[in-house]
Amino acid sequence: MCGIVGYIGHKQASDIVLNGLEALEYRGYDSAGLVFFDQQNRPELIKQTGRVKNLLPLLDQVNRANQLAIGHTRWATHGLPTSNNAHPHTNNDQTIFVVHNGIIENYLQLKSLLTNQGYTFNSETDSEVIPMLIDYYYKKLKNFDNGLRAALADLKGTYALAIINSQQPDTIYATRLSSPLVIGVGQDEHYLASDPNAILEHTKKVIFLEDYDLAIISKNKIEINNLSKKRRRKIKSELLDYDQEKSELGNYPNFMLKEIFQAPTTIKEACVGRLLADQGLVKLGGLEMVNSQLNYIDRIVIVGCGTSYYAGLVGEYLIEELANIPVEVQLASEFKYRKEPFSRSTVILAISQSGETADTMAALEKVDGYGCLKLGLVNAVGSSIARMTDAGVYCHAGPEKAVASTKAFISQVTILILIALYLSKGNNQDYQALINEIVNLPTKAQAVLDQAANIKKVALKYKDYANFLYIGRGYNYPCALEGALKLKEITYIHAEGYAAGEIKHGPLALIDKSFPTLAIAVNSSPLLNKTISNIEEIKTRGGPIIALATMGNKKLARIVDDVIYLPDALGPTQAILSAICLQLFAYYIAEAKGLNIDQPRNLAKSVTVE
Ligand code: AGP
Repeated sequence: MCGIVGYIGHKQASDIVLNGLEALEYRGYDSAGLVFFDQQNRPELIKQTGRVKNLLPLLDQVNRANQLAIGHTRWATHGLPTSNNAHPHTNNDQTIFVVHNGIIENYLQLKSLLTNQGYTFNSETDSEVIPMLIDYYYKKLKNFDNGLRAALADLKGTYALAIINSQQPDTIYATRLSSPLVIGVGQDEHYLASDPNAILEHTKKVIFLEDYDLAIISKNKIEINNLSKKRRRKIKSELLDYDQEKSELGNYPNFMLKEIFQAPTTIKEACVGRLLADQGLVKLGGLEMVNSQLNYIDRIVIVGCGTSYYAGLVGEYLIEELANIPVEVQLASEFKYRKEPFSRSTVILAISQSGETADTMAALEKVDGYGCLKLGLVNAVGSSIARMTDAGVYCHAGPEKAVASTKAFISQVTILILIALYLSKGNNQDYQALINEIVNLPTKAQAVLDQAANIKKVALKYKDYANFLYIGRGYNYPCALEGALKLKEITYIHAEGYAAGEIKHGPLALIDKSFPTLAIAVNSSPLLNKTISNIEEIKTRGGPIIALATMGNKKLARIVDDVIYLPDALGPTQAILSAICLQLFAYYIAEAKGLNIDQPRNLAKSVTVE
């Protein structure tokens, strides 16, 4: 996902924008740039491939006294990572400058129209059509504001835009459609960012832009008009609950390890104010407001991508077993294009850490007008998905900055247990036992983390294998999928997650001494003996086996090659303990391979393109 940062005020704008872009580096990108006007109102446009700090030598060559600037980090969707393709993009007269996050789906038609009007393009990007189109309408309508509105009306696709022009050197225009943008409010200064993390150190007072908002920002004034509702919008600022120190690395080598080791805190934060164990109560304020509708649901469809999708698979078992409500989990990217019956008594639950994943947003847009209840399980407060749903539950896990999701999964599954208990209304024999189990879960999670040295030892023994099979049953089947994804994402080693019972239907053909299996074989699974049979099937074919077993299970140690012992736990909470272990397993292999753990190649933290 690209990053946008802007500033207008009394400080040095280019420094603020540069620091803001660096705060967004964790999201993955391949080039960066920024623009500001010098004292003679001439544009200084600086862009470069590679890291944000590569802009510094270029900045040092220009006069940096400026109070307005916009900048961008690019994650290429159209065109290679080159300085030409980097943002900001400009019109041929170099009087209008734009940074863009999203995709302009009709850019080819617009590019052809503008080329016929005599415009010349210098990049392969879709974004470059935006300043050209604004220029075209500005010259036609003789008014920048009207020209900009006309240009926006022609765009099809998604965008978050920051726009400046040399006629108004003290103004930033900002607008969005399906891509996040937030204004930071300061004292005689304003900030603009695609992610609050970029401006956290300056202000926590923010205004989240909504789709079709067009904000006109000067240093002491903000005006917001909503172009679809054709009226000025009442400005509502909010206070971010992020705490700057939360999003700092501390003494960890990278964010991923920090976020794995936050598991006990993550579980506690997910439950604060929600798990009233001594009263045997689960209180979800975000769902209470739609209780009247929840009483009549007969099906839940969970949508998500990647790790969030796997958390949803755990949720399927949970809600069906605890609340006896049919659940179907679908990949958001598939859900959007399926033709399926969807009754008003179906609830859609969108799970997303970033709250900006385009596929998941598209899934929610699909059911607009269906009359069904839309719920969100989201980490990023005020994010698009959070605001697209009727109600929901925030993770409160704090910013997750490593591209590979870890604490978000732990939080999502913890909250899905709470949601399942909430929907069960206590009518379940395991209800109180599970509540008590969650109270003890942070301690058990810490016990897994205390195993880190042993997990690392096992991981290093297997770090050079080229393929892995991950297997599990019941709650641990989604864990196997998630564990395999973690390994793929950060070590680039091929890994497949499978239901343990399925391997005899084909995958067993893969097994030989070069193809190890990670088998989640914990006591809490009622199907442990069947999983052990699957392990035996692998053993007889010479496959190396690492078992995740429950402390004290000596029988498994006699069958497999290596064992990692986990605390005993109930099924649903066991999935969380297995996940923490598999996160560390993948982490230590990636660390041994010397890879960029927080920003794996080819990946972005939040995929805002379909
Ligand atoms: C998980 O480690 C990956 N980074 C990715 O699969 C991620 O879970 C997926 O893109 C969904 O992101 P979201 O939770 O922010 O919607």
